[in-house]
Amino acid sequence: MEFEPEAANNPFERLIRENRAGQENKPWRGSFLDYLELVKEHPKLTELSHARIFDMIMRSGSGEILDTEDEHTRRLYKGHSLKTYPFFNEEFFGIDETIERIVRYFHAASLKGEESRQVLYLMGPVGSGKSSLVEKLKHGLEELPPFYAIEGCPMHEEPLHLIPRQLRKAFEDMLGVRIEGELCPVCRYRLESEFGGRYEDVPVVAKIFSKRHRTGIGVVPPVDPNNQDTSVLIGSEDISKLDLYSEGDPRVLDLNGALNVGNRGMVEFIEVFKNETEYLHAMITATQEKVIPAPGRHGMVYVDTCIVAHSNEAEWQKFKADHTNEAILDRIVVVKVPYNLRLSEEIKIYRKILDRSDFRAHVAPHTLEVASMFAILSRLEPTGKCDLMTKLKLYNGEEVVEKGRVKKFEVSELREEVKGEGMSGISTRFVMKALDRSLSESPEGITPIHIRETLIRMVKESDLPDDNRKRYLEFLQDTLHKEYLAILEKEITKAFVYAYEEQAETLFQNYLDHAEAFVNKTTVKDQNTREELQPDEEFLKSLEEQIAIVGSAAEGFRQDVIGYLWAASRRGQIVSYQSYEPLRDAIEKKLMNSVRDISRIITKARTRDEEQQEKYHELIQNLLHLGYTPYSADVVLKYAANNLWKD
Ligand SMILES: Nc1ncnc2c1ncn2[C@@H]1O[C@H](COP(=O)(O)OP(=O)(O)OP(=O)(O)O)[C@@H](O)[C@H]1O
Ligand SMILES: [Mg+2]
Repeated sequence: MEFEPEAANNPFERLIRENRAGQENKPWRGSFLDYLELVKEHPKLTELSHARIFDMIMRSGSGEILDTEDEHTRRLYKGHSLKTYPFFNEEFFGIDETIERIVRYFHAASLKGEESRQVLYLMGPVGSGKSSLVEKLKHGLEELPPFYAIEGCPMHEEPLHLIPRQLRKAFEDMLGVRIEGELCPVCRYRLESEFGGRYEDVPVVAKIFSKRHRTGIGVVPPVDPNNQDTSVLIGSEDISKLDLYSEGDPRVLDLNGALNVGNRGMVEFIEVFKNETEYLHAMITATQEKVIPAPGRHGMVYVDTCIVAHSNEAEWQKFKADHTNEAILDRIVVVKVPYNLRLSEEIKIYRKILDRSDFRAHVAPHTLEVASMFAILSRLEPTGKCDLMTKLKLYNGEEVVEKGRVKKFEVSELREEVKGEGMSGISTRFVMKALDRSLSESPEGITPIHIRETLIRMVKESDLPDDNRKRYLEFLQDTLHKEYLAILEKEITKAFVYAYEEQAETLFQNYLDHAEAFVNKTTVKDQNTREELQPDEEFLKSLEEQIAIVGSAAEGFRQDVIGYLWAASRRGQIVSYQSYEPLRDAIEKKLMNSVRDISRIITKARTRDEEQQEKYHELIQNLLHLGYTPYSADVVLKYAANNLWKD
């Protein structure tokens, strides 16, 4: 067989060849006249930076937070209108208010309101997602179709700037777009010297936003205060060329500052207030006046970019306290980025970060939940209305039962009590470090027990203020210890009770039949014998006493249950044993009690007889179904034996 290089099956070679073929597919290039044709057809090509970013976000659509089947979300946001943006939804959790605020900024700015001349400033505690939010925006730009720029312009400037003043109105009318901005000194010079002023001949190219290539995306890290050289922002004069050209010749310019390269897109200022005030003035003029100074004596340069800055609250407070900064403060739109305070969403954050990491070890059920509970407890302000764990559950959209009744106050009441909740506490990074550490220490997998131990160790080692450390240890050693045992007992019961859901459902239906008959003073028809029976009060009591409803309270409770479920089914909801939280609690507790003895005997036993052995095997099998591995099932069962059913 003859050797044919084209047919080579070497995958490396194929990849290289395909890649090269892709590169040969050169980006669009044409004359200014060609560009005008394009604009006529697609006026959006000339969008300014804020509008471009707003459209980018809206390409993924928008929704309403209440448009969901999720009962917890519906409960939590009842009566509120909050927009959601799928552009952010897959990566950001529990900060919908923040995201809505950010999008509102871009919306107003896209309409060229005052906000288009202000800096968007994200302020929040460490690890609350500020950098990631900005990263998401930058990445979004990189995924956009190309934008068009004057070829060779260091600032990728809008080709329409080539149109002289006196003709702009006519062009605007013909194209149906607004033309804003002036040529940069470099392009102005080239127009005259290279093209003899014939701007219709100036070539235009399509460009892709790129952070790495500094195309339409500029980043300004905090600068060493002793070396605040504005060239980082606005470029510089090339000293080696100063001898070659006369003073004021734009050929000496290196317009490669962040505000130059970020023209058309965005410029990010990291830890913005670490910079000297002088430095910030360049940022403010860039956004307020849409011009920046050119280095040396080259006048001002028009820029169109969206400035996004971020830092933590301490720096913001320090900056704000200095009244000489008032002028700057007035030109900043502050958006707070607090920590998420909703348990279900916190779990999603760690799931996301873990999925992106290389850790592949097993994470047992409830591990991320326990870690997340810790993070959220640390962020909550205490309230006189309930304990912190209850507050956590209410903030999660759960119903909380107290003395047989659903607690009757609204989350908004709790929220109004405190200002600035979520601006302090344990950061996502702290919890991630604990997870990483547990995972590397326990390659067989981690359980809530591991993560709690690691968190305890890390809190002890940390240099937190003493009172915080004490509070955090209390959460871990007391609150979460108890909470986890409650979770674990329920879990083991589920694994123990044959067809748990079915049994719970049967108890629920029976309770309803008998409670209804009791309340309405009627009888219950026996399913099998079709006899009319008196309601079985003993049975009703056996469930009610699980949640300490005894004596005269029982009658009210039965009425509550029937009333609640009537209302629910009238609304067309499917009712199940989970519908009414207090009753669900009672049913679960009853089931737990029914297997408590046998669970204890079997999990504690060193030697098991044949029947026990079989039951134990079944228990393990069910735990595997619930997502455990043999290792993690063994760990949690031992823990249960030692802590749950102490003799
Ligand atoms: N609400 C959230 N939803 C999704 N991910 C989040 C959320 N909050 C934090 N994260 C994740 O936590 C990690 C840390 O976030 P990030 O680095 O963006 O924080 P930051 O606010 O910039 O912190 P710093 O002030 O220390 O720079 C990231 O992986 C980020 O994606
Ligand atoms: Mg950051």
